[in-house]
Amino acid sequence: MSSWQRTHTCGDLTHENVGEEVVLNGWIENHRHHGALLFIDVRDRYGITQVVFDEEKKGTPQGLLDRAAKLGQEDVISVRGSVAPRAPDKVNKKRATGAIEVFVTELIILNEAETPPFEVLDDPECGEELRMRYRYLDLRRRPMQHAMIKRSQFVTSVRNYLAENHFVDVETPILTKSTPEGARDYLVPSRVNPGKFYALPQSPQIFKQLMMVAGLDRYYQIARCFRDEDLRADRQPEFTQIDLEMTFVEEDDVLDLVEGMMVRAFKDTFGAELHRPFPRLDYFDAMERYGLDKPDLRFGMEILDVTEQVKDCAFKVFSGTIADGGIVRGLCVEGAGDKYSRKDIEKGLTGYVSEYGARGLAWAKVGDDGLAGSISKFFEGDAGTALCEAMGAKSGDLMLFVADRKTVVLRALGELRNKLGTDLGLREHGEFKFAWVLNFPMFDYNEDRGTWDSSHHPFTAPVDWDLEDYSKDPGSIRSRAYDLVMNGWELGSGSVRIHRSDVQERVFNFLGITQEEQRAKFGFLLDAFQYGAPPHGGIALGLDRLITLAIGADSIRDVIAFPKTTSATDLMCDAPGDVAPEQLADLHILTQKSKSSS
Ligand code: AMO
Ligand code: AMP
Repeated sequence: MSSWQRTHTCGDLTHENVGEEVVLNGWIENHRHHGALLFIDVRDRYGITQVVFDEEKKGTPQGLLDRAAKLGQEDVISVRGSVAPRAPDKVNKKRATGAIEVFVTELIILNEAETPPFEVLDDPECGEELRMRYRYLDLRRRPMQHAMIKRSQFVTSVRNYLAENHFVDVETPILTKSTPEGARDYLVPSRVNPGKFYALPQSPQIFKQLMMVAGLDRYYQIARCFRDEDLRADRQPEFTQIDLEMTFVEEDDVLDLVEGMMVRAFKDTFGAELHRPFPRLDYFDAMERYGLDKPDLRFGMEILDVTEQVKDCAFKVFSGTIADGGIVRGLCVEGAGDKYSRKDIEKGLTGYVSEYGARGLAWAKVGDDGLAGSISKFFEGDAGTALCEAMGAKSGDLMLFVADRKTVVLRALGELRNKLGTDLGLREHGEFKFAWVLNFPMFDYNEDRGTWDSSHHPFTAPVDWDLEDYSKDPGSIRSRAYDLVMNGWELGSGSVRIHRSDVQERVFNFLGITQEEQRAKFGFLLDAFQYGAPPHGGIALGLDRLITLAIGADSIRDVIAFPKTTSATDLMCDAPGDVAPEQLADLHILTQKSKSSS
């Protein structure tokens, strides 16, 4: 080992090391002069150690303090010195190395740093854009390192669990053909096949099914997926799935396996004890009770139906909506009667539900002598009592109602429920509430195009195998798809698959995919189903979302080393970027830009 190389990390030294000569390597977090003494905090991934330059101490070379005084933040240094105990009143209990300090006898400057554009602190005072531009400095910050390390530990635990359960890790192609997961494809032009394009995989879906046809029995991959879609806090154009598939299984087998994986990985990584089985909700039940297909179960406040109680009332918004085939449902916000003013409700909350299509928000506060609020005059006496009873409301509670078409009511109240949960602090910090949502509809009606789309993807098996019965409302056909949700986020989706080509073709036909298109896009899959395809099913969990929720980060950008901005750019390496005209020519590509400049 060279003399400058560390004997210990900056997180190692304790009382046990007092008297030892050690070498530390790291970055300068800060330095402070105290009279003739200079203190420097040296940082590496493992921690921080305070080192001291004291020229009056025996063995300290002349001029050392002057050299050290010139050091700046983020310089990379090597220090040799002896470990000494700190005076009892100087012990820093918040640091693993807080009981000691190192008196330096030798300093080597490994590299000087420019003044960083922001301080490498846990909570830097700068916008996200600057952090993205200098991502390597951002990643030097402890919260980012924590995220990277937890992510790595989580994946290691998942890999161990899956290997113990006989899963085989298989890599599937990145240069491939379009995989339908509902987003746009990222395309890669082929140089040797003029005018042809590869698509980057939106998921390994078809390949993993082919692996089951191949008889591999259990496949998994920590798979990178690419989707060109509008980005939000929980979406990136490239992201990672824990992707798996199993042969000869029903829903329960996949659910059990995934629960075991979550229990193991949460325990290994976060020391958290999850309880099994996770609650299982039917899709329609989840929608009725929580208004959304990814309910946050950390608090109650379920949506309640008062259509029956209000259908004949004098408040025309309610009775008229019901007469027109609509419904009226509400939320009972416990003890919130004095938490929201009339203005808060009629501007704030009403404005909020209007974003989700609601035309208004009717409200009433429950008092000892009846109701107060926008609808109180229509619900005096017994009518008010009946309404409160239906809502389970008592004095001090706030009742909020939406009247409209069912889809609007559920969506508006579902979103409002989440907002109230945040406003009123109803969620316990650090709590992980998993649930399964089962039996999603097979098809969703696309109002813009007037066609039916797959709710999950077209390879999902229907619960009812008889698709011949065209008298059935397609919206009522259930699929064998399931979602894993946690704390109001969709973490994973999967399904039992179609494994017969006749059923697969019927589904494609129903979706309006022509025979020609079926052959061109999925011919190889339909062929594969002719050669002994076993029943199979699987799931993919969004790793980035999982880690974001588990460590309490705000955005999945905080758990991805080099993420893209919301406009799909990488500010650090300036991607996407221009390419040389020769490169475009090689790829047989003429862009609008190159056309106009030629
Ligand atoms: P799905 O499209 O639902 O299913 O994706 C599975 C999970 O991947 C995560 N996810 C994303 N995470 C970050 N950014 C994105 N843009 C993004 N898109 C999806 C979500 C989601 O639940 N092949 C199927 C799975 C299967 O049927 O086995 C699939 O990809 O957490
Ligand atoms: P208006 O009669 O339009 O002044 O509305 C009286 C109250 O009913 C206000 O609090 C509105 O926000 C509310 N309201 C109006 N339309 C609806 C609706 N579709 N559902 C629930 N409340 C509504």
